[in-house]
Amino acid sequence: MVFAAGPAAADIDISEYEPPGALESARQRAQMREGIAADIEAEHRRAEQRAAQERRERAEAAAREARRPYAERLTEQRCTACHTARNFADVRHTWLGWRLVVARMVWLNGAPIPLQEQSVITGHLAASRPADAFTRVIENGLPVLLIAIAASTPVVLGRLRARRRETRQQA
Ligand code: HEC
Repeated sequence: MVFAAGPAAADIDISEYEPPGALESARQRAQMREGIAADIEAEHRRAEQRAAQERRERAEAAAREARRPYAERLTEQRCTACHTARNFADVRHTWLGWRLVVARMVWLNGAPIPLQEQSVITGHLAASRPADAFTRVIENGLPVLLIAIAASTPVVLGRLRARRRETRQQA
């Protein structure tokens, strides 16, 4: 309700809108205006306090963010461009397993992560989401298997060749 005269139309008498008998004197009207002005002032102060509180909270959040380890921040930054961090929150891998995940994100999905950052991110993922026993056996077994295959290939090939020579000589 506006009691003070605003730019009212000439033929409107605002006193008609005042509750009858409530504001009899000019003194009461002045008191009412002061009350409203005080309320407005108090609301301004509350708004300023809220703004100051928000600034404080933002500064604290920024400080907290700066205190987090670089590798953790980098991982979050680079690995949440296409999906949320929930995508890999519960995933567990060995170092090699994580290296392959990161490599797949880069080579198959086109994640623009420089090589240097890839190893920082892999280190962080491997430390914060290490493999369980089963995954460890599988993923650590993989390179052993590959090395075993690579190492035995000349032996196997040599045997095959020798056998072919024998059959040719017999013929
Ligand atoms: C360029 C977009 C992109 C970025 C950046 C990206 N990803 Fe992905 N990610 C995908 C897509 C697309 C899939 C689903 C297809 C797939 O599995 O390759 C996926 C799936 C995954 C999965 C689930 C499949 C799995 O192998 O378990 C994991 C875990 C994952 N991402 C981890 C990461 C990590 C860690 C990073 C940061 C190094 C990252 N992503 C960054 C696009 C991205």
